[in-house]
Amino acid sequence: MQGSANLNLMIKAARKAGRSLVKDFREVENLQVSAKGPGDFVSKADREAERIIKEELRGARPSYGWLGEETGEEAGEDPTRRWIVDPLDGTTNFLHGLPHWAVSIALEHKGEVVAGVIFDAAKDELYYAEKGLGAYMNETRLRVSGRRNMIEAIFATGVPFGGKSTLPATLQDLARLMPQCAGVRRFGSAALDLAYVAAGRYDGYWERGIHAWDMAAGLILVKEAGGFIGPVREGREIFETGSVIAANAELFEPLGKILRQPA
Ligand code: IPD
Ligand code: CA
Repeated sequence: MQGSANLNLMIKAARKAGRSLVKDFREVENLQVSAKGPGDFVSKADREAERIIKEELRGARPSYGWLGEETGEEAGEDPTRRWIVDPLDGTTNFLHGLPHWAVSIALEHKGEVVAGVIFDAAKDELYYAEKGLGAYMNETRLRVSGRRNMIEAIFATGVPFGGKSTLPATLQDLARLMPQCAGVRRFGSAALDLAYVAAGRYDGYWERGIHAWDMAAGLILVKEAGGFIGPVREGREIFETGSVIAANAELFEPLGKILRQPA
């Protein structure tokens, strides 16, 4: 796919941050056995990845705004465009030496995500999409799965940890959904969960209580791969509610119906 200059810039930044994280990840694997553990080291790796991405993106497009998990929000001279960045999605996996984490970079224009890049550096899988141009993983065009029956479908979600208030609702979701499908996965990276829906590996994904940086790039991947996205609570904006449902066209409605049942 012949992407725009912005998409190429995003890919360059994601690869550069990914290289830095891969180096740090090897070190984290060694630190598992140390008494102190790898906690501080991982925070540093995460911040360094955001620094690399910011330097690349803001250096090339100084007028665009910024929303990054580590450095927060910064308005740009151009109020219509902003980068939405999670330098390391799947931090807990990274911390525990589990090779399932990614760099996620999105470009928003007038409130709509128009380009997204998710780089799974440990597996060398680069996912990218641009509005109207389709979604890809490395050189391969992506399509959401074609499954139509809930009972054959696999869904992914994020199970809240550390006392998050969305735990009861998520447990209720699981109790309702699990008897009606082929399985639910919790791999620990919202960005990759969405990328896997775009790639047809998962038939759908939902999560409550996440942030714009966790999902922005993944949303355009799913859309450009022919999938549907929406908030769990209908009639609200996805970023505003921090909840999302993503699935192939056939399963989006039945999945939403289960998740939207009153308590
Ligand atoms: C987390 C991951 C996880 C999701 C959490 C996110 P982080 O992001 O995406 O899958 O369930 O809600 O906070 O903290 O690893 O960047
Ligand atoms: Ca995240």
